[in-house]
Amino acid sequence: MAHDRHDDFAGTTFGDGRYRTLRRIGGGGMAVVHEAHDQALDRIVAVKRLRTDLAEDAVARSRFAREAEHAAALNHPAIVRVYDTGEDEGKTGPVPWIVMELVEGYTLRALLRHEGPLAWPRALRIAAHVLDALEYSHERGIVHRDIKPVNVMVTEEGAVKVMDFGIARAVHGTAASLTAAGHIMGTPQYFSPEQALGHPASPRSDVYSVGCLLYELLVGTVPFDGDSAITVAYKHVRDQPLPPSAHAAVPGTVDDLVLHALRKDPQLRFASAAEMRAAVARISPDGLADMTAPVAVPTGRAQRRTAARDRARRRTVLVAAAAAAACLLAAVLAVMLG
Ligand SMILES: Nc1ncnc2c1ncn2[C@@H]1O[C@H](COP(=O)(O)OP(=O)(O)OP(=O)(O)O)[C@@H](O)[C@H]1O
Ligand SMILES: [Mg+2]
Repeated sequence: MAHDRHDDFAGTTFGDGRYRTLRRIGGGGMAVVHEAHDQALDRIVAVKRLRTDLAEDAVARSRFAREAEHAAALNHPAIVRVYDTGEDEGKTGPVPWIVMELVEGYTLRALLRHEGPLAWPRALRIAAHVLDALEYSHERGIVHRDIKPVNVMVTEEGAVKVMDFGIARAVHGTAASLTAAGHIMGTPQYFSPEQALGHPASPRSDVYSVGCLLYELLVGTVPFDGDSAITVAYKHVRDQPLPPSAHAAVPGTVDDLVLHALRKDPQLRFASAAEMRAAVARISPDGLADMTAPVAVPTGRAQRRTAARDRARRRTVLVAAAAAAACLLAAVLAVMLG
């Protein structure tokens, strides 16, 4: 997707000069993400701005701002924290932005690209974290609407962070930006049949999307794919998915779980994220007893940070040992010299 060069804001300030934008991290169908320095709190954050061309659409703009405000009320370890939201005057009008926690890690898309399909116990563990996040947000009346591998990150310490709560509606639901929406719907592989039909999304739609996500984590491909958004949408509505075991070594219990999440009729799926989460725990080898266990091996910076901590600890031990030896020597000398 071509991105406007004007959407690279590196080196500018926003939020009444509070934030200074550093490098561009990425961009998707509707927004551009940069690393930024919060000069008030002296910390590095991530900032997401609605794409300039979409910001010209008043409906998209106000929805983006409203959804961002809702997302800012969510506070959960598996949800990317939204710190601040606002609007800045752009060349063609106001452009809304969201300042959030900078996640040091990689998306599930990147994880799949680097590692290929995951062993089923690990895939289930990641799904459980996503379901925890959804259970929490659904209780607060927020449906995610766009669960997919680029919207879930794994941190360098191996934690899971879901992002972009509710934001999809900002643009997907805008009749006025049909072209833009067609653009955004370039990857409808994780949409529920009801969303594909243009019906409102419910918590059960998120359950369906988690089914698609888990399917891909297990086998490396989505349950329904095709050359165009329409083809994929049609398959969501009409085609039966092959069980994951047709592609990968997974037990029948995992097939049943995934296929139940992927039922066409929302009423026949798990009734809630919590219900699916309980089913995941039942079939996980360890019953998901310890949800703090990392889902990924700490890499790169996290490993270097751990190594630095270990070195610091070794230094402390050495200094303490040297101090103890010096004390002992002093005591021995004191005794010998009377
Ligand atoms: N808080 C964050 N911390 C670190 N990286 C982030 C953060 N938010 C987004 N990113 C990165 O920026 C990329 C772009 O995010 P964005 O949500 O704009 O698009 P997307 O999710 O890739 O696609 P789409 O627009 O279709 O949802 C993400 O894929 C991710 O790599
Ligand atoms: Mg996203």
